[in-house]
Amino acid sequence: MNNKGPYNAYISAVGSYFPDKIINNDYLASYLDTSNEWIIERTGIRERRYLEDGKAASDMAVKVIESIFEQRGIGPDDIDLLIIPTVSPDMIYPSTACIVQNKLGMKNCWGFDMLAACSGFIFALSTAAQFVQNGTYKKVLVVGTEVMSRLANPNDRNTVVLFGDGAAGVLLEPTEDKNIGILDAILHIDGSGGDYLKQPAGGSAMPASKETVENGLHFIHQDGRSVFKFAVKGMADISAEIMEKNKIKPEDIAYLVPHQANLRIISATAQKMGIGMDKVMLNIDKYGNTTSATIPSCISEYYKEGKLKKGDNLVLASFGAGFTWGSVLVRWAI
Ligand code: UT7
Repeated sequence: MNNKGPYNAYISAVGSYFPDKIINNDYLASYLDTSNEWIIERTGIRERRYLEDGKAASDMAVKVIESIFEQRGIGPDDIDLLIIPTVSPDMIYPSTACIVQNKLGMKNCWGFDMLAACSGFIFALSTAAQFVQNGTYKKVLVVGTEVMSRLANPNDRNTVVLFGDGAAGVLLEPTEDKNIGILDAILHIDGSGGDYLKQPAGGSAMPASKETVENGLHFIHQDGRSVFKFAVKGMADISAEIMEKNKIKPEDIAYLVPHQANLRIISATAQKMGIGMDKVMLNIDKYGNTTSATIPSCISEYYKEGKLKKGDNLVLASFGAGFTWGSVLVRWAI
């Protein structure tokens, strides 16, 4: 990222929302051939949340945005742009951004959904930052919202143990201080990895049919071992790369904010960066993998617990279906 605009974009408010219903490992082990010990040891996940029937991704995004409005003392009319990274939109179209815009009556904004799977928040944050840096917009919302429980096959121990529901996001605003906010981003896609993690049916390549439903092709299909291998390399390398590019040493980093897919992938990334696990934001134990909501939910929780201070360097890092991966360097501004 080479910001030639007059402003930097900074995170001026944060919010997260998780449904009340807790699904712990023992519950999954009560009907699947798995165990609490296996799930904790191989993933770091203890429990996840499931959204109640009748609610959808947009409902959680609305909760996040309402909390951001309250925190920042603003309202629906103040928002210029809403980007919703998600792989579990309310429906294919209209976009969840349109649905949320309507639910909140944000009459001055436009928006769209972004599909970059687990890198959704990082890609959307980088996109949103462009509009703020060049002076086009003053208030941009990026809210990841995911109902992964409706995409994971409840009878597939390879995937259902990993995922959970939740939403989280940030508000971006401009600052003339070019030394703070979103400082850099490195982003990649490699479609040759597409077969390792996908939801095969429901699109134009394989529309819904009796067979696609019967064969479970609307669920997440993952070759976990292969994705693991690529994820460790992708996330570790890109995090080290953004440090080197910006001449940031391990001691200059307040937190690594990694996508929460597997604690072992996260540890490998921290190790490559030369930082201890005490400098890694984690909430995978409580929520599992909430796809585009993992990174902003960590930031929101740590900020609200008073663990972030102005000037802190954060390295955000993700890896996901596509393949998509990326890293963003943020200097905390509030
Ligand atoms: O966020 C998007 C990106 N996704 C990821 O980053 C996920 C990346 N992958 C992973 O996190 C890990 O590969 C998993 C957690 C999905 C699996 O862990 P693993 O250590 O890679 O296990 P594995 O796939 O190598 O499987 C080891 C064994 C297999 O049995 P066999 O073939 O050795 O007999 C699996 O069938 O563990 C078995 N297994 C399970 N056993 C108990 C797989 N899932 C489970 C389970 N409980 N839930």
